[in-house]
This record gives sequence, C-alpha cells and structure tokens, in this order.
Amino acid sequence: MTNSYQVTDHYYDVIVVGAGGAGLRAGFGCAEKGLKTALISKVFPTRSHTVAAQGGISAALANMGEDDWRFHFYDTIKGSDWLGDQDAIEYMCKEAIPAVIELEHYGVPFSRTAEGKIYQRAFGGMTTNYGKGTAQRTCAAADRTGHAILHTLYQQALKHRAEFFIEYFALDLIMSDEGECLGVMAWNLLDGTLHRFRAHQTILATGGYGRAYFSCTSAHTCTGDGGGMVLRAGLPLQDMEFVQFHPTGIYGAGCLITEGVRGEGGYLTNSEGERFMERYAPSAKDLASRDVVSRSMTIEIREGRGVGPEKDHIHLHLEHLDPDIIHSRLPGIAESSRIFAGVDVTKEPIPVLPTVHYNMGGIPTNVRTEVVFPTASDPHRVVPGLMAIGEAACVSVHGANRLGSNSLLDLVVFGRAAAIRAAETVMPNASHKPLAGDIANRSLDRFDHFRHAKGGTPTAKLRLDMQKTMQNHAAVFRSGDTLQEGCVKISQCYARMSDIGIQDRSLIFNTDLVETLELDNLMGQAVATMYSAVNRQESRGAHAREDFKERDDVNWLKHTVTWVDPQGQASIGYRPVTLTTLTNEVEAVPPKARVY
Ligand code: FUM
Repeated sequence: MTNSYQVTDHYYDVIVVGAGGAGLRAGFGCAEKGLKTALISKVFPTRSHTVAAQGGISAALANMGEDDWRFHFYDTIKGSDWLGDQDAIEYMCKEAIPAVIELEHYGVPFSRTAEGKIYQRAFGGMTTNYGKGTAQRTCAAADRTGHAILHTLYQQALKHRAEFFIEYFALDLIMSDEGECLGVMAWNLLDGTLHRFRAHQTILATGGYGRAYFSCTSAHTCTGDGGGMVLRAGLPLQDMEFVQFHPTGIYGAGCLITEGVRGEGGYLTNSEGERFMERYAPSAKDLASRDVVSRSMTIEIREGRGVGPEKDHIHLHLEHLDPDIIHSRLPGIAESSRIFAGVDVTKEPIPVLPTVHYNMGGIPTNVRTEVVFPTASDPHRVVPGLMAIGEAACVSVHGANRLGSNSLLDLVVFGRAAAIRAAETVMPNASHKPLAGDIANRSLDRFDHFRHAKGGTPTAKLRLDMQKTMQNHAAVFRSGDTLQEGCVKISQCYARMSDIGIQDRSLIFNTDLVETLELDNLMGQAVATMYSAVNRQESRGAHAREDFKERDDVNWLKHTVTWVDPQGQASIGYRPVTLTTLTNEVEAVPPKARVY
C-alpha cells in the first residue's frame, strides 16, 4: 500500500450498500431478524432513485377483475423474451401478492377503488388467461408509487433500528484471496474520513447504471456503483446488452412519463395523427411490452412520420381523458409535462421519445440473491459473503426485457429474500475473520490515485464522450457495424481514464472526486454493455440487431457473462437460462413466438 490514510473499523453481521427500495427492504428485514445491520448510502435514503418510480407495483391481487399469479408468471416470461430464469420468475410472481399486502400493512398510501381495495391499473404486457385479456395488475399510489413505497420502507428501517451511514460513498469490496467477500470500504463525504466495514454478508443494492447513456430517466446518482465494484473484484456481470428504453421520456428533457398514462387510456400518434401501435401490436396496441413500443416509435420516426419541426419525436395523448382521472391518478405527470415540456395535458399531447430507463443486466445471482461466479464446471457457483438485489442485480426475472411495474416488485420481493437468506447463513455477532495483509486497503490506492489525478482530461468531458458513444452505438436498434465502431470508441474512452485530471484534492465533499469515481464505475459497465451486445448475434427483447433480426433459441438461449479486466479488456462467457420452475404449482413455459 502506498497511501497513508487513517481508517475507522466497523463490525456488522450484514452491510447493505444502497438504501433505495431494495436496500431498505433487505436492511430492515435483516435487522428484524436480529442481525446487526448497517446501510451505507451516498444519498439520503428517501432521495434514492426508487422515489422516481411512478406507475406502480405489479401483483395479481384481482381487485379490478380476474387475475392469477400464474398469468403474471407467463406474462413475465414472455416479456423477458424467454431469457428470464423461470424459477426466479415463479418466486417473484407468487410472492408479489403477500409482498403488496405487507406494504399495505406497513402503511403505503395506495390509491383505492370505490370499495376501498388497492387500485390497480393496466400496464404493458400484463394480461389475463395467458395473453387473451388485459390485466389490471399494477397497484398504484397515483403516479407517485415509488415515492410512497420508499418513504414507508424508510420508516420501517427506522422502526427496526437498522443503522445508517448516510452520504458515505462505497469504494470497493473487501475480497479475500480465496474469493470471499468480507465487507466494503467507504468514504464519508461529509467529513472526509475513510471506513472499513466488516460483514458476514455484504448486500449490494446500488441500482442501475443508466447514467452511462446521454439521455435517460435515471437520476444523476444512477452510476452502477455495485457493478463497478464487482468488476474490480474480478467478478462478471450478466446480460449487460439488455438495456431498456422506456417509450415515453419527455422529448428533450428525458423525464419519465409513466406507462400508467397508457394504462389509463392514453395513446401514441405519429405526424399523420395515426394510432400506429395498432399496426405493430394489433392486440395489445399501446400496451405492448416496452421493447416493442420503443422499436415501433423509432421506426415511425425513421420513416419520416415523427412529429415536430424536425419530425424526431412522437405524441402521447391524454387530453381525451376525464380531467378528474388526470387529477386523481396522474397528477405528477401533469406537473412534469407543464414544467419540462410546457404542455397542458388536458389540452395538448406530450412530446415523447424512447429514453434509457432500466438495466435488465447486472450482478448475477441465484433466486436466494447470492452472487454467482460461473465457472465452466459450475455455472451456479456462489461467491461467499456477497449478495445483490434490485436493479444492480440480474437474478434474472426480467431477462431480455422488463415489464413495467415488475421493478418495484423485484425490489421488495428480493429485498425480503435477501434478508431471509442472510438470516439462514449468518450467526448473529459471530466474530469476523482476520484480514490477510493489506487486502482491505488496496482500494485506497485507487482512491488516492484519482484524488491526485493530474491528467489533461476533465471528468465531465470524458463522461459526455462515453454517454454519446453509448447513446449512438448501443441504441434501440443495433447492428454489427455500429456496435464494432462502438467497441472501438468505448475502449478509447476507457483508456482515457488514465488521463483524468481533477481540480479539487480535498477529502471533504469533493464532488469532482465523487464524479470521477462514479465515472470509473460507469465506464467498466459501458464496456461490458457494448462488447456483450456485439457478441450476441440475434434479436431478443431490448437487444434488436438489424443484421440478425430473429430470435435464435438454438444458439442464443443463454445468459451472457462479461468480465472487464483493469486494462478494460472484456472477456465473455455464457451460462444456461433456467427453464424449469421451483415447484409444481405452475408449469414452465417453453419458448415460442412472441407477439402482442
Ligand atoms: O412507466 C412507469 O411508471 C415505470 C414503471 C417501471 O419502470 O416499472
């Protein structure tokens, strides 16, 4: 070790990194089970990106008509274009019902039906009777469901006395030479001190890496910090080529306009005033799955039927809806449209464009949320001491394309599953293994390197170049040529990390350094995304190749696993998709054609 930082030690049974929906659910679940638990978060918990989730959380409650969790299971597999692991999907869809009732009991202020039941709206790809009818399955608190859930989970965490280290930035995992995770290093942004958190289980709940792209609905904090730490620990990420574009980001601003708008009866039109989704998805129309709608919009724009002076976006209409519905069910998007698009939604359409929204890929885990390090002889090998949940993870319930409202569900179901598994594997107050040599402090050399970086490239400039490369080369449609060029450009971006220069050398609230560490996290994941995408020579879910237009189950029904070494070299392997169920309560769904 070349640095000389003073480090403060902390000892916990469980450390959770990230305090959004998944982290909070896991954190208070562990505390509730008697484990000494701390949550580390770079932002105040209720500012986590879960707060921005709008439309709702799916669960087959059947409050608004017929439903069954098996229909939800089928829809999620079809939505995933068969890349989702069916054991995990079964677990999530079945557990959805008690999970939402549990949230209701915790105090989430859901919207209500006239009879007082939880209100549920239609969402894309959610059907009854295995594709035959439209399900109203998405439980909503107006269009601020994430906000309502996040605040409620934070209150539960306080109630169960989980401990918080707020505005602490996680730097790196502490990994033993045998490959066990022993905790995490962190930097207190407020006072500049450095910390070594020891834990028997470290749970990564750090969210997605949407900010690798130029235009996204993600908060500026969505920099995939857990994924970055995992890559630096020599572990792979899974299915990184699958990046979801939400059909309705506000044109120019990127802010989310919930799919709930279409669930409440809103629809899309092109420059000819045509409801073009009727051509692309005759049955589901505007409520087809997101990949289908985003591709259809992109084709309309490409073929010259976009709206606006540059014919480069699409109109989303809700001016035909009863203003009372807008006021009670969609108040947030009415406000966002006024502020960010200057539009009164009761009178005129909202200008929208597909915008990066979600990462289906992430840290590979099994259904118990344990991180997996696949090897040739054992594709399911578990990394001792390390778990991952939420958007940071790839469990994989979303496969190649996530259905809207399955994300909030993923957070609470697998947050709870992580707590259950931690309680099974951790003996409360057990002593911690001694740390060999300087393994805990290796990450401080990296921290110190960036803190004193004197190169000629400002972080903001390199970040912009990375974001534009991702936006242009790993877009809604991809081809071998654009992806090859993207690989060259993103590798050049990676190499330029060695020329980063930062101005501020202080340890206290140094945003220049935070943004550089975040960029380092993003960069590895950007490389993994581009190289995984060029390798997958088929179209599946959100990965639409113009040169390989069909899904190819013979050669590509498998998960991609991608390592990125310290020089930025990606190496790629594959592991099997689980096509069997956990129990005999539902039958596995074999791959078939996917039409909406
Ligand atoms: O459209 C939305 O409200 C987003 C929901 C989701 O991504 O699950």
